[in-house]
Amino acid sequence: MKKILGIAVIALAFASCGRGPAQTSFSGEVQTLKSPDGNLTLSVGLTADGTPAYSLDFGDRAVVLPSTLGYEFRGDKLNTTYEERSSKVYSDPVDFHSGFRIIDTATGSFDETWEPVWGEESSIRNHYNELAVTFSKRLGDREPKMTVRFRLYDDGLGFRYEFPYQGWELSYFVVKEELTYFRMAGDHTACWIPGDYDTQEYSYTVSRLSRIEAEQKAHVDYNASQQVFSPSGVQTALQMKTDDGLYINIHEAAVLDYPTTSLDYDAASNSFVTWLTPDAEGWKGRLQAPCTSPWRTVMVVDDARKALASRLILNLNEPCAIPDAAEWIHPTKYMGVWWEMIADRSKWSYTSEFSSVRLGETDYKNATPHGNHGANNDNVKRYIDFAAANGMDGLLIEGWNEGWEDWFGCQKFSVFDFVTPYPDFDIKMLNEYAHSRGMRLIMHHETSSSAINYERHLEDAYNLMNKYGYDAVKSGYVGDILPEGEHHYSQFMINHYHYCITEAAKHRIMVNAHEAVRPTGLCRTWPNMIGNESARGTEFKTGVLPNHVTILPFTRLQGGPMDYTPGIFEMDMRKLNPDMQVGPGDTPFISSTIARQLALYVTMYSPLQMAADLPEHYAAHMDAFQFIKDVAVDWQRSEYLYAEPGDYLVIARQAKAHAKCRANAGMDGHEWFVGGVTDENARDFSVSLDFLEPGRTYTATIYEDAPDACGLGTDAAFNPAYSIRKLTVTSSDKLEMHMAPSGGFAISIL
Ligand code: NOJ
Ligand code: CA
Repeated sequence: MKKILGIAVIALAFASCGRGPAQTSFSGEVQTLKSPDGNLTLSVGLTADGTPAYSLDFGDRAVVLPSTLGYEFRGDKLNTTYEERSSKVYSDPVDFHSGFRIIDTATGSFDETWEPVWGEESSIRNHYNELAVTFSKRLGDREPKMTVRFRLYDDGLGFRYEFPYQGWELSYFVVKEELTYFRMAGDHTACWIPGDYDTQEYSYTVSRLSRIEAEQKAHVDYNASQQVFSPSGVQTALQMKTDDGLYINIHEAAVLDYPTTSLDYDAASNSFVTWLTPDAEGWKGRLQAPCTSPWRTVMVVDDARKALASRLILNLNEPCAIPDAAEWIHPTKYMGVWWEMIADRSKWSYTSEFSSVRLGETDYKNATPHGNHGANNDNVKRYIDFAAANGMDGLLIEGWNEGWEDWFGCQKFSVFDFVTPYPDFDIKMLNEYAHSRGMRLIMHHETSSSAINYERHLEDAYNLMNKYGYDAVKSGYVGDILPEGEHHYSQFMINHYHYCITEAAKHRIMVNAHEAVRPTGLCRTWPNMIGNESARGTEFKTGVLPNHVTILPFTRLQGGPMDYTPGIFEMDMRKLNPDMQVGPGDTPFISSTIARQLALYVTMYSPLQMAADLPEHYAAHMDAFQFIKDVAVDWQRSEYLYAEPGDYLVIARQAKAHAKCRANAGMDGHEWFVGGVTDENARDFSVSLDFLEPGRTYTATIYEDAPDACGLGTDAAFNPAYSIRKLTVTSSDKLEMHMAPSGGFAISIL
């Protein structure tokens, strides 16, 4: 009993601690660590009340001012013994951020070079110095431990909380709040999207940090599932620029069995604090030691191009967990029976007869088709013929399976079974037809966010894929998550997405999940994660802003590739369907020139690239389509020539030989592709070809905006026209390139 009383006193003493402002200074001994190149300095210590704190400097410039670390835990879950549980000695919340002492420190360094299965380059250096500080805190007669492991790279910092196995000191625990602060040294200019538990499909706002709270509400536009948690919340990756030219990015790496974090900004202290996604009961992580948090990352570089070249997030993930990955995972260029549904020209559904569907009971065989079902045998064969003739690896077909009549907005548990084709989709014949033409079909699983239903059907669904020879699936999570109260970014869903990826790997299946959580570098460990949406892409009905694709590579793409679906040639969607519904705030225009659509294959890195438009639109512009046919999807080396987030990007990439991918077949590394995109402003760039092999002669094909082109869909001058020229070039040439507003250029050098 004495033991329990001791704990009760402590619990009372710390129960009043809440989400406070960041501490401002260290007290006592401070440990420091330098990055391998000596430019970054990390300091770690305790504040006067025993709160762990860290700071980060770039040379003599402060990047993160002393900022505190720690947690609040749910009290009743710390009552692990029978006696504790019956007398509830720990009350809410338990302060696990102040009152610590340092019991151990360890340093080390690490330097390796690893080869990704696919990527922006063929090898990646992982070089850091490490400091692990172990803190302990007295809670009654227990003293739980927490290690904070810091890894300092030349381009930034990663740190995470680690809870080692420690018997009765700490075993099961529930997070009320993670209290990781990032106190900024200035009122930086940031590219941010509103903090949300369910979607990242927002346009970026570029503003001073001090403007976030005033502006955030106006930048929340509709999504099928969304929950903004605070008027000062923003999401990671958060890209900032200081007035003296440092580029700072806060994000996270390796989010596993833990909720996703956003950031909440406090103008008074100019600091961000982690804001984890709650579960259905409002708790923010159910943990069991040994365990770790995800890595918290602060990238800092003095040139925007270095931010694009940074592999901080990938490096903080574990090495590849799929021993035979290179045998079956392959970069993929694909088309889809898809854009015509997005444009509402054809439908995912088969019939208009059913107000609701019960899978296995509803009789589709005797239903009258509405006659506009996109995934019918003839239409699919037409796409296969075009895609195969033009070197595609795959063809996605959506709306192939029963259930689309009531899939959306019904919060229906048994929404799809993922194995029953509609009567006019002959799954065996179509797969054989595609295989006979040297390509594969890509499966589609719209879960409608009914996660448990999907897990119940997953094994059968993947077996069906194996049976017919599909090796890739696009999955989707439209609408609010079932079970109700969970979120797209909560721990439950993080575990769900991970389960799907690991099960897919067992079936040699590659996954491209839409509406799932934005990735955090897990594709290093699980390279069958070949794509994700998890940001506003081409399909978004209210359109994308001209600066969008100049920001995504600094933010969303830091965690992994995006299925952005470039390659639209017909920018007016009403041409696909004159009756297309254009709702308030929606736009029928893709705000882009054709040359810019081509550039995206280079600037938006992904091993999974779609040629998203319809075969007939490509057939009408075969000269421009040639670039999509030619462009590689896997790379030996990438050169970031010009970059400024929110303004422009010019990137050159060298192809990598990749036998398993049609797009790169026959390439040997002498092929280069260059892409440039700009925001709403026209821009000119000189592109020096000094990355080419000296002494070698190449043919450059330049796809550029026509002199009178304008990619601004809202503008009277809107005109996506392009022109093409061919030149013989060597490494000593320089190309003068012009980009129209919301335009771009693409160059193949073969
Ligand atoms: C949303 C996806 O992002 C989109 O690409 C897909 O076509 C629909 N869901 C239907 O699954
Ligand atoms: Ca989507």
